[in-house]
Amino acid sequence: MSASGESVSLEYRPVFPPQSTVVRERSLTPEEMEKLGNDRVLVSDFKQQKLETDAQKNWDLFYKRNTTNFFKDRHWTTREFDELKNCRESEGQKLVLLEAGCGVGNCIFPLLEEDLNIFIYACDFSPRAVEFVKKNALYCTERCLAFQCDLTKDDLQANIQVGTVDVATLIFVLSAIHPDKMQKSLEQIYKVLRPGGIVLFRDYGLYDHAMLRFKSGNKLGENFYVRQDGTRSFFFSREYLAGLFQNAGFETLVNEYVLRETVNKKEGLCVPRVFLQSKFRRPVHS
Ligand SMILES: C[S@@+](CC[C@H](N)C(=O)[O-])C[C@H]1O[C@@H](n2cnc3c(N)ncnc32)[C@H](O)[C@@H]1O
Repeated sequence: MSASGESVSLEYRPVFPPQSTVVRERSLTPEEMEKLGNDRVLVSDFKQQKLETDAQKNWDLFYKRNTTNFFKDRHWTTREFDELKNCRESEGQKLVLLEAGCGVGNCIFPLLEEDLNIFIYACDFSPRAVEFVKKNALYCTERCLAFQCDLTKDDLQANIQVGTVDVATLIFVLSAIHPDKMQKSLEQIYKVLRPGGIVLFRDYGLYDHAMLRFKSGNKLGENFYVRQDGTRSFFFSREYLAGLFQNAGFETLVNEYVLRETVNKKEGLCVPRVFLQSKFRRPVHS
């Protein structure tokens, strides 16, 4: 798994600018097309079922192995999503945020450091991840509430009042959820958002380098793969993502591929990363 491709380098000649946003999917080379086309055998139903049953356990073991050292702090969120600063209905209003699938807090702690007038609900289904959040020196109960929740089945409303969240962030989380359960997770988030509240989304996009690196034997379904450690990853097309959010009741505000080139220093290669960055709104009159 990549720590989500946050380092950019121009040491190699880029095939597209350092970062560009586009609405068309990345074009594959003939070799890439052949590789994906030849990868037709899916993991057995039995093994797929086990991966689903063990999803929480596999993520919890991921945090046991990596503790807080895997993902980098995400200092880019306020740059990419100005709603994190400008989404208040009135000046001086406290912004209420939900970071769904918070991991060990790489997204929330930079926000807490930057903005004093914010309250953050942070949930994850890995008990270890939630413990790491609570142990962070920046965690304080006046400004955040971290709790365990499986977005595919537990009730967010057990910890958050309906219609009270201004902004929800879903950062590299939906890709880890089985496609059949993505919609249920979005419906849960819809309920706790206030009318007019928004979801800020960033995740793996179709034909990202990580998708092309999977060896045969790791394919679970269309654009869906399993890593060595049992965690799974889906690669989203714009259309697929928009359909999911629309079926859950949201309006699409922005939905674009972010293309960037990243140097993989270990392999000495310049690789094309593709992310999908999007904003969806719970309709004002809902
Ligand atoms: C790649 S990490 C991203 C963490 C965090 N959003 C960040 O930006 O650093 C994906 C997270 O999603 C969590 N996750 C996966 N499926 C989940 C589910 N069904 N309910 C809640 N959390 C889930 C995992 O435990 C993991 O912490």
